[in-house]
Amino acid sequence: MILVTGGAGYIGSHTCVELLDAGHEVVVLDNFSNSSRTALERVQKICKKPLTVVEGDIRDQAAIEKVLTEFGCTVVIHFAGLKSVLESVTSPLAYYENNLHPDEARRAEIAAHVRHAIDAAVLLGVETVGTFIGRHPGLSVKENVALAERVLPPLVQYASERGIKIIIENCVMEGWHPDGYPGNIAYSPELWEWMFSLGLYLNYDPSHLLWMGIDPIEAVRPYVDRVLHAQAKDIELFPGRRNRYGFPGKAVQRDDPWDTGWWRYRVPGLGQPTFLL
Ligand SMILES: NC(=O)c1ccc[n+]([C@@H]2O[C@H](COP(=O)([O-])OP(=O)(O)OC[C@H]3O[C@@H](n4cnc5c(N)ncnc54)[C@H](O)[C@@H]3O)[C@@H](O)[C@H]2O)c1
Repeated sequence: MILVTGGAGYIGSHTCVELLDAGHEVVVLDNFSNSSRTALERVQKICKKPLTVVEGDIRDQAAIEKVLTEFGCTVVIHFAGLKSVLESVTSPLAYYENNLHPDEARRAEIAAHVRHAIDAAVLLGVETVGTFIGRHPGLSVKENVALAERVLPPLVQYASERGIKIIIENCVMEGWHPDGYPGNIAYSPELWEWMFSLGLYLNYDPSHLLWMGIDPIEAVRPYVDRVLHAQAKDIELFPGRRNRYGFPGKAVQRDDPWDTGWWRYRVPGLGQPTFLL
């Protein structure tokens, strides 16, 4: 019996056809996060042979062990994964964590994972790794700048020794701060200039600028050579509601830290910025 993980996906389903046609018995383990059972129904129709389908996640060790023993699998062909090749070459590897995490042990773990992402980028031939600066919420922005100047340069050096550039998204990450203040100190052109001086690059997302009162075009114009990746995301502002909350957003009734109450993200074209495609 051959176990095909991700067998309902693009490559997996074609592999199942070949395996069934070659006379093998096949069991598919798939969580259908990027596929549907219909593909496997079609495989069986094309081959005029049945295969076994198990819905499960490859991260669930018990589920894997159960399939292997229950069906007596002797071969595993592994296709389950979220990344298509196209995505992996057009997008940076991303690890959006708080590089200035207040807990030092956790901060070290996060730095170690950024290094893993850099190693993975080298193996995949991807030129950039995306992350945030982050913020220690118990410190002022000025103190965070000083902390970042200790934490980030070793990562930049690790990356540059391997031909990789670290890009920082300008997401405000207000939901990371108990009062809705910026949780990622990379939210303004002033901070971009500072992070460029550390050897970092910009992963530009215009949607995070408008609610900060920053013109997304004028802001990026001087720095286009430092923008190695950009995201098309839109934002819709409701100035009438801002008159009630002010820029920081809801204060008294803010159950969701991300809900400022006066703006929301939109797909490109449905918000305020003009996207010229
Ligand atoms: N498509 C290509 O040209 C190509 C080329 C080389 C390598 N690859 C790699 O081969 C693998 C499969 O590619 P694909 O194009 O068939 O992708 P796909 O998205 O069509 O198939 C992946 C399948 O895995 C399933 N899956 C995802 N996460 C799972 C999980 N945690 N547990 C169980 N099932 C899960 C999805 O539901 C899907 O059916 C990927 O790792 C991809 O990077 C793809």
